[in-house]
Amino acid sequence: MLSAEPPTRYTLFMSAAPQKTFYVETFGCQMNVHDSEKVIGTLVHEGYSQVQTVEQADLILYNTCSIRDKAEQKVFHRLADYKKLLAQGKKFGVLGCVAQQEGEKIFERAPHVSLVCGSASYRNLPQMLVQIEAGKRATGLDDRETDECFETEFTARTNPHRGYITIIEGCDKFCAYCVVPFTRGKERSRTSESVLAEARQMVDLGYSEIQLLGQNVNSYRDRAGKRSFAELLTAVGEIPGIKRVRFTTSHPRDFGRDIVEAIDAVPTLCDHVHLPVQSGSTRVLDAMQRLYTREQYLERIAWMKAAKRELSITTDVIVGFPGETEADFAETLSLLAEVGYDSIFTFKYSPRPNTPSLALDDAIPEQEKSRRLEVLMAKQKEIQIIRYRKYIGTRAEVMVEGRNEARKQWIGRTSQNKTLNFSAPEGAEPKVGSYVPVSITASFPNSLLGEMVI
Ligand code: SAH
Ligand code: SF4
Ligand code: F3S
Repeated sequence: MLSAEPPTRYTLFMSAAPQKTFYVETFGCQMNVHDSEKVIGTLVHEGYSQVQTVEQADLILYNTCSIRDKAEQKVFHRLADYKKLLAQGKKFGVLGCVAQQEGEKIFERAPHVSLVCGSASYRNLPQMLVQIEAGKRATGLDDRETDECFETEFTARTNPHRGYITIIEGCDKFCAYCVVPFTRGKERSRTSESVLAEARQMVDLGYSEIQLLGQNVNSYRDRAGKRSFAELLTAVGEIPGIKRVRFTTSHPRDFGRDIVEAIDAVPTLCDHVHLPVQSGSTRVLDAMQRLYTREQYLERIAWMKAAKRELSITTDVIVGFPGETEADFAETLSLLAEVGYDSIFTFKYSPRPNTPSLALDDAIPEQEKSRRLEVLMAKQKEIQIIRYRKYIGTRAEVMVEGRNEARKQWIGRTSQNKTLNFSAPEGAEPKVGSYVPVSITASFPNSLLGEMVI
């Protein structure tokens, strides 16, 4: 999935002059994490400086997610927690998917908020900041039909080695359960030239890994009509200096064989595809309006399994969609075994505002959803234990991500996107951001262990 990552905080240098300060907390997927990087860059350009605590901040921003009810409630709890800070003259802003979904209703529910802005309106943030500084409320809500992409030269990327590039925004798929087409607007792609220019600029700044982002990256349509998604992947992968290219998320309906051919042809394209299936039952997939059958999904898996390099395949699964029977669920379990995923993200179906599945009345009780989730996770754990074990005795190149001092280990990531922790001999400590070969000595359900080869 476009995975929900823990809240991210960023540090940027602060000048000596007193400046307006802001604090931002990010919820939700990588798209949101990357949007926050762009918002931070924009605010810094407007003369604000970023701080690490709400107490230090003049402006407190939450970049929100509404994919499931829990995610949305988290935002309102956070707003309630800090209401008392209003007395100190602080201002609050709600950005992202809850902002776009709830709009001005947020002002009613949390009257201390002065800014509500959906992702398609971030380009207007500078004007909105002026408004809220003047003590007014500001709202930035675009309608679904907007053509705007948020491209900015001020992106404040946090990781100096690996960075995101948004290639397509919005979604036109309207899966029956999903808020994204309502919170992110219609599908719109950037030109491949602007994506490539950004990638080249990143390489000049020292980046070696690029992750192309979109709700459905393989629905990408170059605005200038020059390149297909597979051609864009190839072109990014061939930029001198690029070591790794990842892309997320792929939609099975639009996943063409040309993507596997591109991975075969270009060694920098990573050996990993995240292909969310949601359910193994064609009947449920149909009710979800996913636009493919179990068989069509498995056909794409077969293309990937025929690739020259072994591709790691991961997915997202929803349990307890309205009407999902025990037999449907059994089909999801059998699909896990058939594909042999390296990792899955599992979710209990959560009814969401505006979505077509709200009208379906054969709801599955919460307890039953929890039971299915546990069964699914246990099954996947068995699969992963076996899958990870087979790497013992092999070698992989990792990008060094950091150091775990407590365990005296280095943290690495393979091209297949697996965590590979490793030891390195004294005097040969690797640099964070470098690529080193590691020989794998042990496996766990979610990670591998090894020793650096020197
Ligand atoms: N565009 C991506 C999905 C982005 S949302 C795709 O089509 O795969 C990330 C994941 O959240 C989805 O894959 C789905 O598994 C989960 N999800 C979305 N809406 C949900 C809902 N209402 N209840 C439970 N899980 C949901
Ligand atoms: Fe949501 Fe479906 Fe679009 Fe993915 S493809 S963002 S699940 S509507
Ligand atoms: Fe992402 Fe959540 Fe919005 S998953 S697109 S931040 S609803």
